[in-house]
Amino acid sequence: MTEPSDLILRGIGELVTNDPRRVEAGLLGIVNHAAIAIRSGRVDWAGPLEDLPDEYFDLPDLDCAGRAVLPGFVDSHTHLVFAGERGEEFTRRLAGESYETILAAGGGIQATVRATRRAVREAAAVGLVESARLRAERMLTHGTTTVEIKSGYGLDVPTELRMLEAASAIGKLVPIDTVGTVLGAHVVPPEFAGDRESYIRLVEEEMLPLLAPLARYCDVFCDRGAFTVPEARHILEAGKHFGLKPRVHAEQLVATGAALLAAEVGAVSADHLDHIDEEGAAALAAAGTVATLLPAASFSMRTPQAPARLLWDAGVTVALATDCNPGTSYVESMQFVIAVAALETGLSPAEAVWAATRGGALALEEPDKGWIGAGTAADLVILDAPSSVHIPYRPGANLVWKVIKDGAVVVERPSPLQGKG
Ligand code: NIG
Ligand code: FE
Repeated sequence: MTEPSDLILRGIGELVTNDPRRVEAGLLGIVNHAAIAIRSGRVDWAGPLEDLPDEYFDLPDLDCAGRAVLPGFVDSHTHLVFAGERGEEFTRRLAGESYETILAAGGGIQATVRATRRAVREAAAVGLVESARLRAERMLTHGTTTVEIKSGYGLDVPTELRMLEAASAIGKLVPIDTVGTVLGAHVVPPEFAGDRESYIRLVEEEMLPLLAPLARYCDVFCDRGAFTVPEARHILEAGKHFGLKPRVHAEQLVATGAALLAAEVGAVSADHLDHIDEEGAAALAAAGTVATLLPAASFSMRTPQAPARLLWDAGVTVALATDCNPGTSYVESMQFVIAVAALETGLSPAEAVWAATRGGALALEEPDKGWIGAGTAADLVILDAPSSVHIPYRPGANLVWKVIKDGAVVVERPSPLQGKG
């Protein structure tokens, strides 16, 4: 939605390219004293400033004054569209009540379903878009340039449809790319409590065909209190029939074998994985399924983190995402997620930064995103800091100086560095 632009970024102190051809520069493919040339909203050239070809010298110029530049964050797992909030539930959880008990008693996800249905029914659907738009704007301000958005708080056909319409509206209102996912199989809604089969039939026969044009993926919450492995298998196969590739909420609350299912159905991503074991990790590696870790959710739930080191060392592609939702992770900042990942999961700062950029792009099958080189999307974050390690080193701060989307500066923040590197 932004105008494609031409621009030269000079004076980049540390450029994180994530370019695998720069292996000598480590996982992040770092180039120091770098420049980037952008033409028509895409990266045309990136490398050491001293090698910048003459042909770019007439382009408008932005001096980064020694700051670090990295690809825009790709947040590959969010529940961004919802109504209401659950601060009271959060307080109860901190006082000892469990997430699953609250859900089983009709709270948790079901409370957000009631609020979201009400918002749509009372023609407050604009409010649904407006609240999600504000969250997307805050994400962008923190450096996210692509966001995946799931349905799953409607659990009836009209509300699920309205959620995905809202998700695609966000991409037109905010300079951020959106990718839709159908999560009709989040939980069984109360009106189908005694008849799960009928709800699954509704998802497969009515929701999936109607919502498929608004989405790229079909997701299932495969866990205790949600959907079983056989149910999830059936729904994910039905999704494929409508052109929706599978992704799975797997091994979050308890170990169920959902990671093995993700590998079996060829899921693009298996997400959460707090309870995954070595067998599950090996299966994901063999299937080429991305492990999308959501460390802010485990942090907010005060539960043990997913075994990120095990997954990485097993050869699984690891992504990091916020899981932004009103229950388990009301978090909008990928910088915060990187900080939790590097401080709590055993990933190094470089691995965490890679997983939040290139890993997220791979989890959404976006080959031109999450790295910087000729032909990639000019979606960039300029930090008001000299290196990307400052992200986990200074948790809680928004270190963004500018965000560039399709070559245009879409976020500008005041700088304490005042131009000094
Ligand atoms: O990814 N686990 C299932 N779904 C969300 C939580 C949704 C909610 O609590 O509202 C998650 O954590
Ligand atoms: Fe989720």
